[in-house]
Amino acid sequence: MTTVDVTEDTIRQTKELRDEFQRFLREYEFGMREVETKISILRDEFTHDHSYNPIEHVTSRLKSPDSIVEKIARKGIDEPDFARIRQEITDIAGVRVTCSFVADVYRLFDLLTAQDDITVRVVKDYIANPKPNGYKSLHVILEVPVFLSTGALSVPVEVQFRTIAMDFWASLEHKIYYKFSSQVPSHLVDSLTDAAEAAAELDLRMERLHREAHGSTSRQLAPPPPPRVVEV
Ligand code: GTP
Ligand code: MG
Repeated sequence: MTTVDVTEDTIRQTKELRDEFQRFLREYEFGMREVETKISILRDEFTHDHSYNPIEHVTSRLKSPDSIVEKIARKGIDEPDFARIRQEITDIAGVRVTCSFVADVYRLFDLLTAQDDITVRVVKDYIANPKPNGYKSLHVILEVPVFLSTGALSVPVEVQFRTIAMDFWASLEHKIYYKFSSQVPSHLVDSLTDAAEAAAELDLRMERLHREAHGSTSRQLAPPPPPRVVEV
């Protein structure tokens, strides 16, 4: 039988590492809260000033420690330290904004990323350039300042903007992908790609209907925007 020599030193070091990791994760939680507040202010302003709410729902999540460790391994980061993890793993804090229409997706993206204290690191426009499986969403990695007792800190947050139809598709695709441990049978892959097209068609029709109902001069929906292709 093997014995493990657990010295007081090892226990102290383990506790220090745990505390440091919790502090590290808290910074992301603060960054996420800043972004959530910005989005909820935009939502409230729209609701009051334009009698229109472009956001259906907002969800946020912090990546779990297990999933951070899994991603460190997947990215082949040896000897990871906190600075390296901060640089390489940019989706520790994630906010998902589900909008009614594609035009709202772009408008919210523009309003959020135009704010003075926000720095845009990467934009992936999977609406203009869908993934081969049909996945659509507008992704942005941004940095938001968080003011701590020790000073200001810039925290990366991944924000995904999508419509209800895109969200419905993505959540089903995600469940199927996990059910089959990534080995999805080809007929299901094909059906999912078809369903993504049907979802995009529904988005178009709903937006057209909405415009018709509110008149073409409606201030509620901006005209179709140019694609944001910074990186795909
Ligand atoms: P990750 O390592 O998974 O974070 O991917 P990435 O760094 O290449 O970034 P990308 O912008 O492509 O994807 C980030 C996130 O978008 C994922 O974690 C998912 O939440 C979502 N996503 C991307 N592609 C798909 C997809 O094909 N299906 C679903 N359901 N979600 C996706
Ligand atoms: Mg991710």
